Amino acid sequence: MTSGAGDELVGELSNVPDAARPMPPALPGTVATRTQAEDLFESLASDLLSHAFNCVREFGDFHLALSGGQTPFPLYRLLMIDPRWRGFPWRRTHLWVVDERRVPFTAPQSNWRQIEELIVEHADIPRDQAHPIEATVPDAAARYEAKLRETLAWREKGHDRLDFVLLGMGDNGHTASLFPHTAVLHERERLVADCDGPTVTPPPRVTMTYPLINGARFIAVLVAGAAKASMLKRVAAGKDTFEELPIMGIKPIGGELRWYLDGPACGNA
Ligand code: 6PG
Repeated sequence: MTSGAGDELVGELSNVPDAARPMPPALPGTVATRTQAEDLFESLASDLLSHAFNCVREFGDFHLALSGGQTPFPLYRLLMIDPRWRGFPWRRTHLWVVDERRVPFTAPQSNWRQIEELIVEHADIPRDQAHPIEATVPDAAARYEAKLRETLAWREKGHDRLDFVLLGMGDNGHTASLFPHTAVLHERERLVADCDGPTVTPPPRVTMTYPLINGARFIAVLVAGAAKASMLKRVAAGKDTFEELPIMGIKPIGGELRWYLDGPACGNA
C-alpha cells in the first residue's frame, strides 16, 4: 500500500489498545473482537476503508455489497458523519445490496430504503453506481443478476467479483436472506435468487446466493449483542450443516472471511 491520508488512518486505528479483548469462539477465518460495539464498528470501518483504497488503486473501482438488518446501522452512520472516514472513495464505489424484502422502497422493511437514507443521500456516490434490488417485480432476482454480471464484466477476467460483502447473522443462523432448509441454499449457478418458505421471516426475499457471496474478495460478518452468543457457539462447534445454519455455508473461494464480534456476542455480558 502506498502512503496517503487513508493509510495513516488505518494504521492509527488498528493500534487502538483494548486490553481486555473478549475471547472469540473458534470460527472459520479470522476474528476481530472488541469489548464495545462502538470500537468494533471503528475496526470494521477501518478495514473497509483500507480495502476500498486498495481496490480503487488496483482496479479503478470498488464493489461493495451491504446487508440490512439493524446491527450495521451505527457503522453506516459512522461512515457518513465521522471525519476520519470522510475520504472514503464513494465516487469510485459501486454499492450493491446483499438481500431485499419483497416490498416497495417506501416500506419500512426495505433494506435499500435504509441504505439510501443513511448512505446514498449523503455520500457523493454517482446515482448510476447505487444498485437497489427492485424487489416488487416478479423477475427481480434475474434482473439484479444481469445488472451485476454486466457491471462486473468491465473488470478484467478473474477480477470480476465483489470486493467486499458485509453480512450479518440472525439468531437462527441465517445470513443474507439464506434461511434454514430453503431451496436457495442449493443454488450453484445463479448469483441472485428468491427465498421463501416456512422458515423465512416474512416478507419473501430476494438474495445474493452462496456462489456470489463466496466468490467475493473479502467477506465481513458483523455480529453484535448477547442474543447472538449461543448461535455463535453453535457455529464454532461446527456440528450443524449449512441447511440447518446457513451461515455455515459461507466459505470463501480464494477470498478472506473475517468476523467482527463485540463482547456480548462472545458471551462476555
Ligand atoms: C436482512 C439482512 C439479514 C441480517 C440478519 C441479521 O435484511 O434481514 O440482510 O441477513 O443481516 O437478519 O440482522 P441483525 O444483525 O440486525 O440481527
